[in-house]
This record gives sequence, structure tokens and C-alpha cells, in this order.
Amino acid sequence: MQKTERLDKFSTPIWITRLEDHKELNKELLAYVYALRKKDPIGRQRSNMLGWHSQNIIIKESKPHMKFFKKILPVIQTVMEDMDWDSENYGVKIKDTWAIINQQGACNQSHIHGNNLISAAYYVNVPKKNEEGYGGRIVFLDPRESNLFYKPYTRNINHLNEQQVTVQPKTGVLAMFPSYVYHWVEPNLSKEDRVILSFNLDQYSFSSAMIDPKKVSIIDPKKISINPQKILIDPKRLTVNTKKKQSKVSSQTRKHIYRDLF
Ligand SMILES: [Fe+2]
Repeated sequence: MQKTERLDKFSTPIWITRLEDHKELNKELLAYVYALRKKDPIGRQRSNMLGWHSQNIIIKESKPHMKFFKKILPVIQTVMEDMDWDSENYGVKIKDTWAIINQQGACNQSHIHGNNLISAAYYVNVPKKNEEGYGGRIVFLDPRESNLFYKPYTRNINHLNEQQVTVQPKTGVLAMFPSYVYHWVEPNLSKEDRVILSFNLDQYSFSSAMIDPKKVSIIDPKKISINPQKILIDPKRLTVNTKKKQSKVSSQTRKHIYRDLF
């Protein structure tokens, strides 16, 4: 019998990580986000429908955000390794970050995060009811338009014929995905708020120079002491943990804990 080998190519990664010891961090993040809303109750209109969307958060000004980004550096490292980004010549920057509070009935319409490479949502608080399946799920659409346009009749959904993937978030979970993937959030059917942090990652070239418009000075990217405090990450100097600890976190990040509700 002849043997047929199937090559599964052009896959779309969605990284799901459950952060350990996130309770205290989430408490601090929640306090920060609600204080932001108090200062700016209108917020910003983006994909949010009824929900509150913050302005871009200045990471350096928020201790909980600094703590959060420090904690997730190994996850960012995993993404970079999986994608095999050129860490010799390109660093990674957290380009912008914001928060969303979806109260009962609020949702997010379908959108992409243009002009970025990787986007993320971190679930600071997912209502118990959402975790039990009452709303608040995030849905990712197949980025291959041709697969949405015409498809065969199938019996069961599998990873070769699915057109969308639904993820049931849980508090303390970080989801990362390519910025070009359309996604939306179902209405929160709980009386409790659903609160997330979101951010975008992009690369920057070590051969480039950045201009600070306020000081009209050029910053040599190689001279930036790259750590989350400066918002830029040098993959070669990612020294949050020892190597041993990093590989431990790395294997944990691969534990998929999402529940596909199809
Ligand atoms: Fe989004």
C-alpha cells in the first residue's frame, strides 16, 4: 500500500498561557484600571461596544503593568522562539497597551490590530459566569479568506476544516496571536465586569535610530538598556530568570488550557 504523507502548512498560532500566582498582580492591575476609568470615564472608542476602552497606558507610570510585563517576558520569548525571529538584528518592543472593561451586555466587534506583529489579551478578571460558558468568549476567524469563501460540507469540525476558533478565557490567562487575525468578543452575560489588558508587539531594528521628538535627540537602540522598564526587549539579554528557570516557564507556556466550545 502506498503511503500518503500530509503536510500541514501555513498554520496560525494562538498561544495560551495561564500565569502562575496572578491573584495579587490582578488585584493591583484591577485597581489601576478602575482608577484610570475614574479619571477618564469616556475612554476611547475602538472595537468596544458599550464597554470602556482606556487610552494607551504609559507602562513606565504603572507599577502593576511593569510587574505584569516582567512576568510575561518568558512567554514573549517563547513566541519569538517559535516564530524564529531574528534576534541578532531585531529587538522587540511593546508598542502599546490598553485596558477594556466590559460590563454586562458589552462586547467587542470584529477587528484586527493593524501595523503590528503579535497582539495579546490578558484576562485580569473573567466573571465566574463567563467561565461557565455564559458569554465573554473570544472568537478567532481563519485569516485565509479563501477558506471562508468556499468550503466543503463536513461532518465534524477539525483543525483542517474549522473556520473559526472559540476560546473560553479564564482569569489569569494570556492569549497571544498574530495581529492580522480577525477576532471579536461575545457579550458579557454576567453582572460582574470582564476586564482585560491588551498589547501589541512589533520588532525594531538594531541598526535603526529613534528620535525623541521632545528632546530632538537620536537614541541609539543598541545603547538602550533593554528591559521592560524601557519597554523594549532585547532577546539576547532577556535575563528575567536564570536559564534553568526560563526553560521551566517555557514548557509551562505550552500547556494549552483553553476550552474549545464548538
Ligand atoms: Fe483585539
